Amino acid sequence: MAKKVGALTGGGDCPGLNSVIRAVVRYALKEGYEVVGIKNGWKGLIECATMGLNLESVSGILPKGGTILGTSRTNPYKKEGDVEKVKKNFKKLGLDALIVIGGEDTLGVASKLYKEGLNVVGAPKTIDNDLSCTDVTFGFDTAINIATEAIDRLHTTAESHHRIMVVEVMGRHAGWIAIESGIAGGADIILIPEIPIDINEVCELLKKRHSRGKSFSIIVVAEGAKFKEGDLVKQEEKLDAFGHIRLGGIGHALGDIIEKKTGFETRVTVLGYLQRGGTPTAFDRVLGTRFGIKAMELVLKKDYGKMAALQGNEVKAVPLEDAVKELKTVDMELYNIAKIFFG
Ligand code: F6P
Repeated sequence: MAKKVGALTGGGDCPGLNSVIRAVVRYALKEGYEVVGIKNGWKGLIECATMGLNLESVSGILPKGGTILGTSRTNPYKKEGDVEKVKKNFKKLGLDALIVIGGEDTLGVASKLYKEGLNVVGAPKTIDNDLSCTDVTFGFDTAINIATEAIDRLHTTAESHHRIMVVEVMGRHAGWIAIESGIAGGADIILIPEIPIDINEVCELLKKRHSRGKSFSIIVVAEGAKFKEGDLVKQEEKLDAFGHIRLGGIGHALGDIIEKKTGFETRVTVLGYLQRGGTPTAFDRVLGTRFGIKAMELVLKKDYGKMAALQGNEVKAVPLEDAVKELKTVDMELYNIAKIFFG
């Protein structure tokens, strides 16, 4: 009987997910495996919702954003009995192994399940780029390119109308998208979750810049950035299954204060899900493909409990447990480079 490998995608969707799925399927079929797609992340394994994955189903998906498997933020450790359902369905489906494609939450579940005896391996996904043990996650490159293009486009209106433009980008705990798109887009101030916002300092920088003749400024702010005195700005209080609040709104809060304190006309743009949608860059397609092949290679070697990771230019296997232990926040060396261009 053919060996069986399952694949699921969990958490926020991300450009490049389909390249991982395609790589897993193509390699697995070559090795004589049958591939079972688990629909909608961990939810699909709780409910035993699956789809067959074959050459036909992965044909033409490489340039497509999102995930053909669907996704969810379901956490089987949240509701009593769900972990047992996951284990039961893993067995029922006759899976020899499961490839889990996700970020810290989804892979955190994978790591726990591995410790409880399931044969799982992981591939690191997130536009936020905040997973440890890997230099970069797929999806990040696409997100920073979208954000950079947006900053470039906002420059023209900022300059023509002599305005301050605040651009809110994603980045819950880490400001990677803000810092890299901000540097690439020539932002005048970049605000990230790692460094609390000193609003007086921000206004002083803007005034100084304008006093040397500049009539516009661009500020990039990560959604998870917060004021020195204050809390996260959120859209609602409700927590998701992993205990996260829905962020969003710091851009508008910041814009209001800046306009009041400096008198400069200020506008706010929230990029939101545009950063996660649509076609992945060539870099993300290649990285996703490499991660998918590595994950399947780990399955073939029965090297479970590991995650594919990019270190330098090499794709390596790292323990899932290490990858989810703590988040990778913005490198202060990079932040200090960005700071030279503030104001
Ligand atoms: O983790 C990726 C991410 O896009 C974060 O940057 C953001 O905070 C979150 O997902 C938004 O999640 P949701 O899709 O549940 O609104």
